Amino acid sequence: MVDTSFTHIAHSTQTIQQRYLHVITWGCQMNVYDSNRMVDLLRPLGYKVTDEAEKADVLILNTCHIRDKATEKVFSELGRLRQIKEYREDQGNPTLIAVAGCVAQAEGEIILKRAPYVDIVFGPQTYHRLPKMILDVARKSGNVIETDFPTESKFDFLPAPDESQGYTAFLTIQEGCDKFCSFCVVPYTRGAEESRPVQAIVDEATHLCSLGVKEISLLGQNVNAYHGQGPDGNIWDLVKLAEKLSTIPGLLRIRYTTSHPNDMSDSLIAAHRDLPTLMPFLHLPVQSGSDRILKSMNRGHTVSEYYAIIEKLKKARPDIALSSDFIIGHPGETNEDFKATMKLVQDITFAQAFSFKYSPRPGTSAAVSMNQIAEPEKDARLQELQAVLKDQQTQFNKDTVGRKIPILFTHKGRKEGQIAGKSPYLQAVHAQGNDSLIGQECMVEIDECLTFSLSGSLVKESTSH
Ligand code: 5AD
Ligand code: SF4
Repeated sequence: MVDTSFTHIAHSTQTIQQRYLHVITWGCQMNVYDSNRMVDLLRPLGYKVTDEAEKADVLILNTCHIRDKATEKVFSELGRLRQIKEYREDQGNPTLIAVAGCVAQAEGEIILKRAPYVDIVFGPQTYHRLPKMILDVARKSGNVIETDFPTESKFDFLPAPDESQGYTAFLTIQEGCDKFCSFCVVPYTRGAEESRPVQAIVDEATHLCSLGVKEISLLGQNVNAYHGQGPDGNIWDLVKLAEKLSTIPGLLRIRYTTSHPNDMSDSLIAAHRDLPTLMPFLHLPVQSGSDRILKSMNRGHTVSEYYAIIEKLKKARPDIALSSDFIIGHPGETNEDFKATMKLVQDITFAQAFSFKYSPRPGTSAAVSMNQIAEPEKDARLQELQAVLKDQQTQFNKDTVGRKIPILFTHKGRKEGQIAGKSPYLQAVHAQGNDSLIGQECMVEIDECLTFSLSGSLVKESTSH
C-alpha cells in the first residue's frame, strides 16, 4: 500500500455491445490492480469503460479504508453517484451502483442501510463473482451483498487481461495480513495472508510481457513474506519467484511492494545485488523511530533491527533508493518518541517517504487506547517530519544530476518531442527523443532536477536486448 492519492482510472477497451462501465478507484496499487481485473471480468458481458460517469450503466466505487474519514468520504461520493443514477433512470436508463473494496468489506450492511440506492456491495475477496452479482440484480431487482471470505480463490476465476496495459503493470502475488499492527484495518478487510501459486503468477507475467509489458510491480500487503506453492511441489519465496520471472523474455524490471522489516531476509537483500532485473528501490515501512511506540504498534521489531537491515541493504546495493511509511501521533506518542523518529529519518535518509497522522480505525486495538494524541500536536509533528522528508527527496534527486542512468520510457512527455519514463529509483524522467523509443530502456544523462521530475539527454539509444 503505497499510493494514497485518489485515482480515477479510465480504462479503454473494445467490446461487443454498447454498455458502459465507470470505475472510480481510491487507495493503494492493489485496488488499481483489482479495478483492472473487474474491467476484465465485465468485458465479456459487453461492458466498455467510460471516464464519463453520466454515460455509465454500471458505476463501481472501489474504496479504501486505511486512513482518514474513509466511510464518510464514501457516502459523500455515493451522494454524487445517486444523482447520476436518478437522472439516468428518469431518462429510462437503468443504472447500477456497486461499492467495492475495503470500506465495502468493513461496513457491508451499513452501506445498504444508509444508501439503499446502492445495488451491490462486495469485498476484495469476492469480486470474481461480479458478473453474477450484476445479473442477479438485473433479474431480481434487489440488492446484493458479498463480503464473506470465500474458500475459493478469486484468482482462479479472473480472466487474463486481453488488451495492452502499457509498458508497466501491477501483479498481485500475495494478499492479506496476519501481523495485526495496532493501527491497521488490513487484516480485517483483506483477510488472512495468502500467496498465489508460482505458476499462476508466471503465467500472468508471461501474458503481460507478451502484451508488451517491460516492468512488473509485484504487489502484496506483505509481499516479502511471499511463500507460494512452486511447480516443483516446494514452497518458493520472493527471491526464487523473482529469479524465475527474470527469465521471461522481454521483462526488464521487477519491483515489489509493500514489505515488512521482519520478512526482509538475507537472500532478498542479496538479490538486490545479484539479480539485475530487481530494481534498486525498496519501500520498507518503519512507522516510528521509537522502540516504545514500535512495541505498542505490535510491529515485532526494534529500531536497531531496522538500522541493521538498512545497513546490509546499503552494503549489498550502495545506490539503493529507500522509501518508508511513518505514522505520526500513534496513541501514547510523546515528544521524545517523535524526536526518535526524526533521528531515524536523519540517520537513514530516504529517497521518498509517506507520512500520515494516526487515524483511529474501528475494530483495531489502538483505536480504543485512552492515550490519543490531540490533533494540533499531530499536525505540528507531521509538518516537522514532512519538511525533512521533502528535503531528503530533493537531495536524492539532485544527487542523480550528472549521472548516466537507464530510463524505461513509457509515454510521451508533456512538451513536443519529449518522451518520459522512470529511473530504476522510481524517479520521473523526461528527455528529447523519438516516440519510437517508448517501450525501451535507454541510457540518459540527467541534466537537471526540476520540482516533480528530472530532465536528461539520451546518451545511447537502447539498453534493451
Ligand atoms: N492511521 C494512519 N496511518 C495508517 N496507516 C495504516 N493504518 C493507519 C492509520 N490507522 C499507514 C501506515 C501504512 C500505510 C499504508 O498507511 O503507515 O504503512
Ligand atoms: Fe497492516 Fe501491519 Fe499488516 Fe502492514 S503488516 S498490512 S501495517 S497489519
